[in-house]
Amino acid sequence: MKRFRIGVIGSGAIAQACHIPAYAASGKCDLVAVADPEPRSLQQTRDAGFRFKKEYRDFHEMLQRETLDAVSICTPNAFHADAAISAIRRKIPVLLEKPIATNRADGQAIVAAARKHKVRVMVGFSHRFNEHCEIVKRELDKQAIGKLYMGRIRFAHGGPFPGWAKTDWFYNPKLAGGGALLDMGIHAFDLIQWFIRPLTALQAKTATLRKPIKVDDNAVILCEFGKDCLGYIEVGWTSPSGFSGVELMGDKGSIIIDYAADTSTMVTGITKPSGERIKETTVLHAKTKRGAWKREMDHFISHLGTRKPFAVGLEAGMLSLQAALASYESSRTGKRVIL
Ligand SMILES: NC(=O)c1ccc[n+]([C@@H]2O[C@H](COP(=O)([O-])OP(=O)(O)OC[C@H]3O[C@@H](n4cnc5c(N)ncnc54)[C@H](O)[C@@H]3O)[C@@H](O)[C@H]2O)c1
Repeated sequence: MKRFRIGVIGSGAIAQACHIPAYAASGKCDLVAVADPEPRSLQQTRDAGFRFKKEYRDFHEMLQRETLDAVSICTPNAFHADAAISAIRRKIPVLLEKPIATNRADGQAIVAAARKHKVRVMVGFSHRFNEHCEIVKRELDKQAIGKLYMGRIRFAHGGPFPGWAKTDWFYNPKLAGGGALLDMGIHAFDLIQWFIRPLTALQAKTATLRKPIKVDDNAVILCEFGKDCLGYIEVGWTSPSGFSGVELMGDKGSIIIDYAADTSTMVTGITKPSGERIKETTVLHAKTKRGAWKREMDHFISHLGTRKPFAVGLEAGMLSLQAALASYESSRTGKRVIL
């Protein structure tokens, strides 16, 4: 069986926690080359037991010298476009972390390059591979709660640095391109548009409420999906606890995915002619068996060596990026933005 020659660009937290272990555990991949300008990240990768055949400081040099079957791009956001386009030009399938870019022009350049060179790019929208989200999507497609009229997502944690990220780029506007909204809102925009449909308009407020940083640490977005469905998203980097998840309301019921409780529940009901109300509660899923990052990587690796499109590609990446950029514009101008 053919083994896949893997390159990784950026060997920090997400590379070490998700991408590299999955390639190593797959039994189908060889860790051929890694590029990172930060010696500490390379050392941590080695210390974690992952040995690449070759290490580089510069990903351009890595892409020039190595023959690769796939590349993961796990750098700070500002380098995503350069790294992705450089890999695409060499016809290498890419797993690109979110957000695909920090501005529209870069996003469009990646899309154009992928189209021109006919290269498949998967975007790291890991929530799509969350077992709860997959099961809920199937229920929605079956119209289990009828036509949706409201969706809300809250994704929040205590912030990426210190604690998670290996370097402090998340709080640097030039390297990150935005704060909590671009980091976590981008997942929420992907998920809510997957569950409902593409946004038609939004209004947003981003703010730096608590952290002494130059990017937003909290954001709230009011979403419109045409005339008959609304939604709201809240994301934050200052929340050690609280609800994290998704709630969807339709004409025949509602669904809640509670990430902390690791459950997804559907409530449907009817009112009998007598006036008696019958409520039916169904636990759709409880206790995740395989984590979203692992399932995301399973998907990517299982599609290597094929021509099958990835479940989540650049179209979704661009849709979410546009929503995030529109949110910053709305917050700046105080105006509703039509998408
Ligand atoms: N999908 C998810 O759930 C998820 C979770 C966390 C992070 N991410 C994304 O992953 C990316 C990396 O985030 P992280 O948390 O791993 O940050 P990190 O700081 O831990 O790692 C980033 C690494 O990239 C390296 N780097 C910087 N410039 C580089 C360059 N020009 N070429 C190669 N490497 C370079 C840094 O030295 C560092 O080792 C971000 O885009 C982030 O949004 C996704």
